[in-house]
Amino acid sequence: MDFISPDSCKNIVILTGSGISAESGMATFRDKDGVWSKYDYREVATPEGFAANPALVHEFYNARRRSLFEIEPNPAHRALAELETGLAARGGKLTLITQNVDDLHERGGMQNILHMHGELLKAVCNACGEIHDWRDDLSVEHVCRKCERSGAMRPYVVWFGEIPRYMDEAAEAIDSADLFVSVGTSGSVYPAAGFVAEARAAGAPAMELNLEPSENAFLFTDSRYGPATEIVPAWASDFLQAIG
Ligand code: APR
Ligand code: ZN
Repeated sequence: MDFISPDSCKNIVILTGSGISAESGMATFRDKDGVWSKYDYREVATPEGFAANPALVHEFYNARRRSLFEIEPNPAHRALAELETGLAARGGKLTLITQNVDDLHERGGMQNILHMHGELLKAVCNACGEIHDWRDDLSVEHVCRKCERSGAMRPYVVWFGEIPRYMDEAAEAIDSADLFVSVGTSGSVYPAAGFVAEARAAGAPAMELNLEPSENAFLFTDSRYGPATEIVPAWASDFLQAIG
């Protein structure tokens, strides 16, 4: 693996997936006993599933939203927040793009986060598009505080077949990245899974930090494997030390 020379890396793009939150207690999706081994994604994470049975979809996301109040960010979330601060202090920039809908990056101290798959602690009204902060259970009975329609509120989560958010900002950051880092994702869902190829095509080296090689591990120029709470803080502090 070619070593990435940190001193030329001022603009870093980091993509995270459910693996960074696994040790906080959030289930991943495709590991053994993952979320998709218990639920059919077509029933709970597609617009068609919501139209067919909104109560089931609300129940799925209500359970995941409630679980957020019992878990804490872990050292990997905090290490990325420290890296964001350390880079800014050196005139650099960290763009964090997360596939996760939990708020652990925020609670771990990260300032700038692009939630490309939405956020569990928000709800959106299908009728007027208003986005609401939402920490309680959500149901079809809820009335939109803005347009006052009932039955139109849904989780502010991007479902399969829908367009992820912040794609322009992500493309811009990746095109000008000096380094692309992927943390805790299997590389199986596009467009996120295509980011490493975009970064490499734009000339940036790429680092994979994961429990094990992902589906697109071959596209990375460097890698460290192990639990995120161990390898992410170690890599982040090595990196900050190396850029002085
Ligand atoms: N430390 C580091 N990596 C881990 C850990 C850990 N403790 N535990 C698991 N992983 C890795 C797994 O090896 C796997 O590669 O995290 C990855 C999790 O992959 P997935 O379960 O596929 O989750 P993710 O990549 O985030 O899924 C992407 O798919 O279903 C959609 O919207 C959903 O955002 C999600 C998207
Ligand atoms: Zn509304």
